[in-house]
Amino acid sequence: MSTPHNAANPGDIAETILLPGDPLRAKFIADTYLEDVVQFNAVRNMLGYTGTYCGARLSVMGTGMGCPSIGIYTYELIHFFGVKNLIRIGSCGAMREELQLGEIVMAIAASTDSNYAHQYQLPGTFSAAASYDLLKTAEEIAAERGLPHTVGTVLSSDLFYGEGETWRIWEKMGTLAVEMESFALYCNAARAGVRALGIFSVSDNLVTRQELSAQQRQTGFTSMMEVALETACRISRQAARETGSA
Ligand code: HPA
Repeated sequence: MSTPHNAANPGDIAETILLPGDPLRAKFIADTYLEDVVQFNAVRNMLGYTGTYCGARLSVMGTGMGCPSIGIYTYELIHFFGVKNLIRIGSCGAMREELQLGEIVMAIAASTDSNYAHQYQLPGTFSAAASYDLLKTAEEIAAERGLPHTVGTVLSSDLFYGEGETWRIWEKMGTLAVEMESFALYCNAARAGVRALGIFSVSDNLVTRQELSAQQRQTGFTSMMEVALETACRISRQAARETGSA
């Protein structure tokens, strides 16, 4: 069944998906890394593809920016298309001076200034957390490859252009970096009992006000993307072993 935002048919999308914000990144990943690629979506130009990587089925699709956008796409992926492992890849703005441009940040949990979790009517504050399996796998891969990386909490903010410097208050709570989507992703995954992880490349540093050039941004993105691809590969192999199909 297709949805208002996704034209895929049942079975078109793999159980594991990489989720860049930018749909043209999804196309780039499909063109560069996947084999036997089929495009499953172009509604609103939110391009989505399924192919194979390391012998396993893998999908990749854009999410757009912000919690509402990723909230819609990932809800549909999980509930209408059976996706079980969702790996967001994106950029983030570092709140710590020591985080270098191009370095990888992995979100063990996401705080937010968004209202996304109000829908659940929880009698307290929800901790939106990554899948430990996905995080552990991704961290091991980054360590094996000698890629500089830091695991910690991020802020998923509704504001890119915000009034004042409210990020400084989040920094006091140990937050590493700001991005705009992981909180909604982690909520959707938690509510449905599936796995999610956000991995980021530091594109700018809010403390030092440094920013990557377009070329450096690409290089940083490549190492993060390759960690995400290898994570997907290992998770698929693990799933195949568990079901006895490989
Ligand atoms: N804010 C929000 N999202 C971001 C930023 C930022 O400064 N940098 C990269 N993604």
